[in-house]
Amino acid sequence: MHERILACLKSTRDYVSGEEISNSLKISRQALWKHIHQLKDAGYDIVAVPHLGYKLISSPDRLFVQEVTHGLETKVFGRRVYFFENVSSTMDIAMQRAMEGEPEGALILAETQTKGRGRMGRAWISQRHKGIYASFIVRPKILPTQAPVLTLLTAVSICEAVYEYCSVQTTIKWPNDIFIGGKKLCGILTELEAESDQVHCAVIGFGINVNNEKKSLVPVATSLFEETGHVVNRAALLQIIMRHLETKYFSFLKYGPNQIIEKWRQYSITLGCRVKVSLHKSHLEGQAVDIDDDGALLIRKDNGLIQRLTAGDIIHCR
Ligand code: BTN
Repeated sequence: MHERILACLKSTRDYVSGEEISNSLKISRQALWKHIHQLKDAGYDIVAVPHLGYKLISSPDRLFVQEVTHGLETKVFGRRVYFFENVSSTMDIAMQRAMEGEPEGALILAETQTKGRGRMGRAWISQRHKGIYASFIVRPKILPTQAPVLTLLTAVSICEAVYEYCSVQTTIKWPNDIFIGGKKLCGILTELEAESDQVHCAVIGFGINVNNEKKSLVPVATSLFEETGHVVNRAALLQIIMRHLETKYFSFLKYGPNQIIEKWRQYSITLGCRVKVSLHKSHLEGQAVDIDDDGALLIRKDNGLIQRLTAGDIIHCR
C-alpha cells in the first residue's frame, strides 16, 4: 500500500487530496492517514494541509522498494525488488529465492549485511545506509565456463552508470574490482548453480561504496562521496545500473561476449601491466596481454608462453 500511496504523491508536485487517494486506492481516509504517518516515520517528508490534501516534499535516501522501482526504465532488471534492513548476505537470500523459482532480474537489497562476503573468502564490510549492497538473479542458457562474462558485464555496467550519474571515471582491475585513482570503489561476486554443461541460475552481487566518509573506509578504498564531494542518491544510481545491466545482459545473450569484452578492455587497468599471481603451489609473473571470450586473463610469461588465468587475485607490479 505504501508503494501505491507514494506513486499517487509522486505523480504531481502539487497537493493530492486525501479523498482522491483513498478513492483510487479503495481505502478509508483513516487508513490513509495511518499509512501517511508510517511513511513519515520511515523518513518521507509529507505535509498535510486541510482542504488541500497531502504533498510529498522529499524522500529519504533509502533503498525502499518504491524508491528503486518508481521511474525505473527497465523491463526485467529490478522489476521485482526485495528490500531488507539487515541480512546475513544478499547472496544467500538471492540464491535461496532463485532456487525457489524467483524470475530473472529479481533484485535483493539490504541496508547492511552481517556476513557480507567477497571473493576468495574475504569479508565485505557493509556500512549501514551508506553503500549499495545488492544481488540479482539471472538464468542465462550458457556454459559454466562462460559465466565470468556475467561478472565482466556487471563491472562495465557499473562503470558506465557511475560515469553517467556522477561524471566520475572508473577503471577495472581484472577480474572485476572497480577502482578510482588506485582505490577500490566496488567489488563484484558471482555465484552459480550449474551442471557441467549448463548454468541453471546465477546470482551476481555488488557492493559499492557510495556515501561512506573517508574515516569509515580502509585506506585502499574510496567512495563516490569522497570522489565527488557530495552525497549521491543511491536509488537513482541503482536505477541507472539496472538499465545498463539489462541492455548488456540481453546483448550478451543475443550477440555473444565480444561487445562486452571490448568495453571491458577500455576500462581495464590490468591489460599492459606486469602482473604477479599466487597459484596453488607456485607463482606466476608476466605481462597481462588480453582477456579471452570467457573472460580469462592471458598472461605472457617471460619465456614467451601465454598462460590463461581463469580465477585468482593478481598484483599489478608496475
Ligand atoms: C569482492 O570485492 O571480493 C566482491 C565483493 C562483493 C560484495 C557484495 S555486497 C552485496 C553482495 N552480498 C555479499 O555478501 N557480497 C556481495
